[in-house]
Amino acid sequence: MTATPRVFVTRVIPDAGLSLIRQSCRADIWPETLPPSYEILTERTRGADGLLCLITDRIDAALMDAAGPGLKIISQMAVGVDNIDLAAARARGIPVGHTPGVLTEATADLAFALLLAAARRIVEGVEYVRAGKWRTWEPKALLGADLSGATLGIIGLGRIGKAVARRAAGFDMRLIACNPGMPPPEAEAAGVRLVDLDTLLRESDFISIHTPLTAQTRGLINREALSKMKRTAILVNTARGPVIDQDALYESLRDGRIAGAALDVTDPEPLPPDHQLLTLPNAVIVPHIGSASLWTRDQMAIMAAENLLAGLAGQPLPHAVP
Ligand code: DGY
Repeated sequence: MTATPRVFVTRVIPDAGLSLIRQSCRADIWPETLPPSYEILTERTRGADGLLCLITDRIDAALMDAAGPGLKIISQMAVGVDNIDLAAARARGIPVGHTPGVLTEATADLAFALLLAAARRIVEGVEYVRAGKWRTWEPKALLGADLSGATLGIIGLGRIGKAVARRAAGFDMRLIACNPGMPPPEAEAAGVRLVDLDTLLRESDFISIHTPLTAQTRGLINREALSKMKRTAILVNTARGPVIDQDALYESLRDGRIAGAALDVTDPEPLPPDHQLLTLPNAVIVPHIGSASLWTRDQMAIMAAENLLAGLAGQPLPHAVP
C-alpha cells in the first residue's frame, strides 16, 4: 500500500461513510448525479488501491485488469452484487465487500408499502383526487384487495423475506415461501410454510420477490409462471428487475391475467419514461428506493467505508461477500 492509498468512489455517498474514507485516503469522488460511464470508471480506477462502487457500476474482469495489480479491494455500497464479476475478483485475489443486514428493515418496509399501495390502489386514488374526479363517497369506486386472511407467497426467505413475513403476520396473512434448500424448521420458526414454486404461484394472493439475481433466478417469473398465478394476484418486486420477464408481466397486467404489480426494481433501470408498463393503472413503479431511508443509507455508507479501509490495510473485510 502507498503511504496514502488512492481510492475511486463512484458517487457522492453519505458523509457518515465518506468522512471515514477521507480521513485516511486520497479519495477521487465522482461528483455527478449520474454514474460514470464504463470508460470513465475504468480510467479512474486505473492504478487505484481501492474502489467503492454502487449497483449502477459494471465491475468486470476487464476493469479489474485495467485497474492493475494494486487494486486491493472492491467495496460495494449495497447488499446485492450482481453487477460485479465475483469469479473474476476471486481469480485475481481481490476481496469484495457489501452491506448486508442494515437495509433489511427498510427494504421490507418498502415491499410492504408497495403491497398495500397496489392492494388498496393508493396511486390510482391519489391521481383520482388530483384529477378532480372525487365528487362523492362512492360505494363501488376504487375497490381493492383485502390483506387479512389472504395468502402471501414469499420467493426467497432470506433476511428481507423473513422481515416481510413479520410484517405480514401483523396483517393476519397466511404465509408460504419458496426457498430451495432451506430446512423447513427454519421457515416454520418465521411462521412460514415452505412450498415449491408452482404451489406458491397457484395459492398466493400476493407474491413478494426477495431473491438475489443469479443465473437460476433470472427470468424466474416468466410467462408460464405468470399464467399460474391467480387472476386476482398482486406481484411485488423489491429484489432485482430481471427476475421478472417484464414483457410477459406487461401483457399479464394489460390483459387482466393478474390484478396488479408493484415494482421497486425494473429491467432496465431507469425505466424509460415512455415504457409500456407506465401506461398501466395496475402497475405501481418506484425508482429502486428499497434502502432509501436516512439511517439505512448512513449505515450502508459506513459499512462500505469499513470494508474499503480493511481491504486497503490487507485485513479481513468485516462484511465480505461470501
Ligand atoms: C441493494 O443493496 O442491493 C439494493 O438493491 C440497493 O440498496
